[in-house]
Amino acid sequence: MKDATPRATLLSEYRPFSHLIDAVELDFRLAPNATRVRSRIAFRPNPAGEGGPLRLDGEGLTLISARIDGKDVAPRILPGGLVCEVPDGPFTWEAEVEIDPASNTALEGLYMSNGMYCTQCEAEGFRKITYYPDRPDVMAPFTVRIESDLPVLLSNGNPASREGGVAEWHDPHPKPAYLFALVAGDLVAHEDAFTTMEGREVALAVWVRPGDEGKCAYAMDALIRSMRWDETEYGRPYDLDVFNIVAVDDFNMGAMENKGLNIFNSRYVLASPETATDGDYGRIEAIVAHEYFHNWTGNRITCRDWFQLCLKEGLTVFRDQQFTGDMRSPAVKRIEDAHLLRGRQFREDNGPLAHPVRPESYVEINNFYTATVYEKGAELIGMLRRLVGPDAYRRALDLYFERHDGEACTIEDWLAVFEDATGRDLAQFKRWYSQAGTPRLAVETARDGNALAVTFRQSTPPTPGQPEKRPVVLPVALGAIGPDGTELMPTRVIEVTEAEQTERFDLPEGAVLSILRDFSAPVILTREQSAQDRALLLAHDTDPFNKWEAGRTLAKDALVAMITDDRAPDTAYLDALAPVLGDETLDPAFRALVLAIPSDDDLAQTLASAGTTPDPQRIDRARHALIGALAKHLEEQLSGLYDAMRIDGPYSPDAGDAGRRSLRNAALLLLSHRDEGARADAQFEAADNMTDELAALTTLLRIDRADESVARFHDRWRDDRLVIDKWFSVQVMHAPGPKAADVAARLTEHPAFDWKNPNRFRAVMGALGANHAGFHAEGGTAYDLLADWLVRLDPVNPQTTARMTTLFETWPRYDADRQALMRAALERIGNAPGLSRDTSEMVSRMLG
Ligand code: PHE
Ligand code: ZN
Repeated sequence: MKDATPRATLLSEYRPFSHLIDAVELDFRLAPNATRVRSRIAFRPNPAGEGGPLRLDGEGLTLISARIDGKDVAPRILPGGLVCEVPDGPFTWEAEVEIDPASNTALEGLYMSNGMYCTQCEAEGFRKITYYPDRPDVMAPFTVRIESDLPVLLSNGNPASREGGVAEWHDPHPKPAYLFALVAGDLVAHEDAFTTMEGREVALAVWVRPGDEGKCAYAMDALIRSMRWDETEYGRPYDLDVFNIVAVDDFNMGAMENKGLNIFNSRYVLASPETATDGDYGRIEAIVAHEYFHNWTGNRITCRDWFQLCLKEGLTVFRDQQFTGDMRSPAVKRIEDAHLLRGRQFREDNGPLAHPVRPESYVEINNFYTATVYEKGAELIGMLRRLVGPDAYRRALDLYFERHDGEACTIEDWLAVFEDATGRDLAQFKRWYSQAGTPRLAVETARDGNALAVTFRQSTPPTPGQPEKRPVVLPVALGAIGPDGTELMPTRVIEVTEAEQTERFDLPEGAVLSILRDFSAPVILTREQSAQDRALLLAHDTDPFNKWEAGRTLAKDALVAMITDDRAPDTAYLDALAPVLGDETLDPAFRALVLAIPSDDDLAQTLASAGTTPDPQRIDRARHALIGALAKHLEEQLSGLYDAMRIDGPYSPDAGDAGRRSLRNAALLLLSHRDEGARADAQFEAADNMTDELAALTTLLRIDRADESVARFHDRWRDDRLVIDKWFSVQVMHAPGPKAADVAARLTEHPAFDWKNPNRFRAVMGALGANHAGFHAEGGTAYDLLADWLVRLDPVNPQTTARMTTLFETWPRYDADRQALMRAALERIGNAPGLSRDTSEMVSRMLG
């Protein structure tokens, strides 16, 4: 049941819970439509609480019985829970409820997926399992008993006993309810073992449906590497005797860090060379690591309340980014992360959904699992580390773990640790947590002989609810390159703290500054710089991020001129690329990134932030023209690269081979504009791995010659859900703009379009949103199609619906016609009868 008038929860209204919990015992008797859950909870008054009756959260529960200290009680049942008078001292609460997992399509709480039971409790799903103080600052040890005919019965912690159809689990580490998990199913395990630095033997298992056991080796390998890395880099050993990962097909998000029992969307576990791309392997590695790292940053030290979400998510994303950098290439990883941040987080920060890394108010917390909380949250950790240096960072983290293990903490606790470990005052830095919006950093230079004065001006545009902004602390890493390409000034970090600040450098005439190296702060840098200087940095910058960035800016400038002034592709850009592509000392993965053309959405965002209304059709045309020009200009070189990057021998997902494939496939896409898809056709037939097969298919789709391959791909893979998701997705993603909505609509009629499965729904509708020219095609048919489907999905799965409404968040960027059409689509969603709290909050924030 949804509240009629949803009320906002405010950070300022935080109060500790009335009681503490010494122990929780849960007893599950599983049945698809009538699962019985008995709870036995030892409460005692919280000295820091305010007394009063016991208030427990609960949603969609049928209360069978309730007792306190063995005596029946009759609590008052409210819309979101219950209230009960309780003794002044400690007491035991016992309740039995009935729930209906088979009808749970929202995938929060206890639900069923392909005959298997599983749970998702973050953020507030536990209240759909039993009455409980469902808030992260109430931590308790759990004992769980599961009764079922299914062969595999799992929960958090260590296995305590197993007899016939009953399993018991005990988790000694106090935890909040959002980390509870239960799984029951007919599953098979891929097993391994790990010995911790403390000598603890840990049994590891990845649980999947029978038939998928051959696709778990990479996830297991990533887990073992993560466990080792957290020990060597952060001194953090694992703390239970077992670690289980379970793959489920129906899951709203990527994965979940439940204590000792991580539950994953199966797309982030299952991989074989034939069915998973290099990108999939990379995401599996990163997400397995991310969830594992939560064991210390999230589980052992958790959040006091959901406003502190970035405390665990920002830090854990930062840690998984470091891990991937160490496993693969730090330079490539940094470019990819900065690129993702700009694509998703800057988009959010510059639209109606902008919010601080630590929000101060929410209606539905599920709506705040955002790029801002996660990715910008991670950037804040990166800036802190850059400001204090790696050694002080490690000292601060050691202190964090020592001081707060077993606690539910705040951002204030986090920053205090850094202040205490380093003696630094972080008062101004803290603004990063409360101020929304992307800071603009404008740089101007003035020369007097060898003295170069560099003036930095920072400002942050207004965001919803925050008209005025104050200056933030910006670590600006910079260096300089001489006209002959040698480095004149190695990287140093300037701390820009004022609205305007001038720094002086001793640098000769002709020196070219390389500013914001390694993307040292999440800002939009604006700066006049000649195409020659950019080409110089592309050729010679010692900082890989800025080397890539120089090429990127050249490409964007060329494209913007093509879009706004109908100019021809800039030959300076085309000429500057050739030497980088041919530089064999450079990692192929890096060269592939240099060769990637800025996306339509990226261009729309760039134009909008410079005050120009983006025209999706013109953007699409310009981008095609540049691709055509690039292909023509570099044909010979690309053809050479295509042959040289070929890999003979068995597929390996490692970063080296994946980099070669990415460069080769980037060349393939360009070359298809010269060879009418001949190479792509051949590659599609010959490919022995999904990376090459899908790249060939995508290429053929982009030149609109894929009809036959699309059909063959389907026949080949009809029995593999995850591959069929790709099949749905690429057809929509790469359809020519005017056709995209039709292609999507036609695919929703395909028998395999199981729209209640979030992966499948996103495969089609997410891809439609990602096809810029298609989504924004004249007339608004794509907007309408998406709105129709969101209205249909909302009663079934509010969380995924609300998330997907963000495809409309860019409406203010566009022309009046498109704005009106997008707003009308949003209004239609907003007016749907019985709309969920999740979706209604998103729609009203977007419409302002
Ligand atoms: N906490 C999960 C993660 O980032 C994400 C998640 C949130 C999963 C909410 C499910 C529900 O690791
Ligand atoms: Zn996380």
